[in-house]
Amino acid sequence: MKILFATQNQHKRDEVQALVGHQFNILSLHDLHFTAELPETHETLQENALEKALFVHQQFSIDCFSEDTGLEIDALGGAPGVYSARYAGAGKKPQDNVAKVLQELGDNDNRNAHFRTVICLFYHNETQYFEGIVNGTIAKEPAGEKGFGYDPIFIPEGTALTFAQMNASEKNDISHRRIAIDKMILWLNQQVG
Ligand code: IMP
Repeated sequence: MKILFATQNQHKRDEVQALVGHQFNILSLHDLHFTAELPETHETLQENALEKALFVHQQFSIDCFSEDTGLEIDALGGAPGVYSARYAGAGKKPQDNVAKVLQELGDNDNRNAHFRTVICLFYHNETQYFEGIVNGTIAKEPAGEKGFGYDPIFIPEGTALTFAQMNASEKNDISHRRIAIDKMILWLNQQVG
């Protein structure tokens, strides 16, 4: 089954394709040569996920899903959260966002955080939501070259490595996106029997 993932982020598309296996063919906006930036104008992950899915559904009229992810840090009152992509300001690089998190946290001993992903699926004109959360801590300094975004400073619970020190399959085994995608695949499988 072909399903469109409403994202411009090829890292995310590749992660999701690896998660769902051959049963689903995940198309990205890149595959459809659609380069417009997706709107993200709301204050919750759920509303942003809906906005992106709706926007893309209106363009292509095919089943699609979108996801919005935030890094939520306890000592920062849940920041950067829904503002994770532009925490250091619009147009800044992922490294700038990472640097801002480390600066805001300083020597704070409470480094508890979680990644939260919300998926919004448009399937046969119905909307479904799926959530995935992974708990962890924020490292004192960036480590690792793999992954993307905040991966170099996020140490998931039960490991000593940052996501960026893991290979793709190790991250995919435990990630927030994995948890949310598994829920979506389970639901889709129930629909197609
Ligand atoms: P968005 O969901 O694409 O808006 O992503 C929000 C922000 O979180 C961006 O800065 C991403 O780089 C970052 N982000 C999303 N997913 C991950 C992840 O799995 N690891 C690290 N950073 C992520």
